[in-house]
Amino acid sequence: MKSIEYNQVFSFPAIGPEVLFGFGVLKRLPEKVAELGGKRVLIVTDKGVHAAGIVDQVIEALAEAWIPAVVFDDVPQDSGSKTVERAVEMWRAEKCDLVVGVGGGSSLDTAKAVAFGATNPPPLTQYAGLNKLRHPGLPVIAIPTTAGTGSEVSYWAVMTDDDSQVKIGIGGALVFPRVALADPALTLSLPPFLTATTGMDALTHAIESYTNLSYQPISAALTYRAIELIGEFLVRAVQDGADREARYGMFLGSLLAGMGMNPTRLGIVHALAMPLGSWQLKIAHGAGNAVLLPHVMAFNQQGNPTLYADVARALGVGDADPLTASQIAIARVRALNAEIGIPPGLGALGLTEAMIPQVCAEAIKSGNITVNPRPCTQADLEAICRAAL
Ligand SMILES: [Fe+2]
Repeated sequence: MKSIEYNQVFSFPAIGPEVLFGFGVLKRLPEKVAELGGKRVLIVTDKGVHAAGIVDQVIEALAEAWIPAVVFDDVPQDSGSKTVERAVEMWRAEKCDLVVGVGGGSSLDTAKAVAFGATNPPPLTQYAGLNKLRHPGLPVIAIPTTAGTGSEVSYWAVMTDDDSQVKIGIGGALVFPRVALADPALTLSLPPFLTATTGMDALTHAIESYTNLSYQPISAALTYRAIELIGEFLVRAVQDGADREARYGMFLGSLLAGMGMNPTRLGIVHALAMPLGSWQLKIAHGAGNAVLLPHVMAFNQQGNPTLYADVARALGVGDADPLTASQIAIARVRALNAEIGIPPGLGALGLTEAMIPQVCAEAIKSGNITVNPRPCTQADLEAICRAAL
């Protein structure tokens, strides 16, 4: 790992969720609801998670402690401001006092947005950016069902502004869930392709956070370990979903990456992910990121080859001079994508040549561009998208 820089000044957010991690921790949900003063719970989730029976497990866990719950299961793949508004209306009508998010990034981010949407006047889009919220939200318990987004420990909530169809992020300490209840058992039934794409999203968080200009030692300790765990366990989790050790390792890697990226932000992949997940495109976040990651690494490696060499080391594939090792890291990520069945290009996911300028004009405005390890222009982004098409 990169050695310390004794003159570096850095900060790390002090207020994050309490983490309860491990097989079986779902049983402790009622205890955490009671500690937070919850008497009536709003569960925010999506129909897929509901149909998979996971919401029933959550309701049963609450029912054992006589805690009533109502379910909002209408979160779409890329949730938007109107979905949040409808869930806030349900919270108000049902007189709930605590939000439990259950699902992938979209459900957890929506749950976080419902919690602060209940206490901060509309429209929510006015709070886009960092530290714009005025009031603390309702308490949130985040229960992830994918090893990918790290949303359970992240202080960002991403959603589509349904009026402009542009994705926005609302961030800051007031967005944190109060408890992350991370039970890897909930990922055992995740299908191979979703395991692959969400897992590559987690790897992208770790690599972009580790290599960007905001590099700092606490985040680096978290994200380096995340890269090691994902490198070790992703293929196993995709090949055998019932492999408990692999599911545990992936879930932990995803959580560590999510925690590490809070103060650093990310890079070009996530700058492009916002418009690629917007408009009529709606490219699944993890799949688009997986395709883009090796292309962005190839562009970025000359920005800081030493850190990319660390990535190779964490992936267990390289201990050469920095430029060679960083090229080995890129080759490993490409091979990983092939092993786990990631589509070969963004074209297969719906992007066309004609859309590239509009996507990149939006992406270049992202805060993730300002911390990218190599300065880049809109033309650079377009070249990356064309190479990844
Ligand atoms: Fe992501």
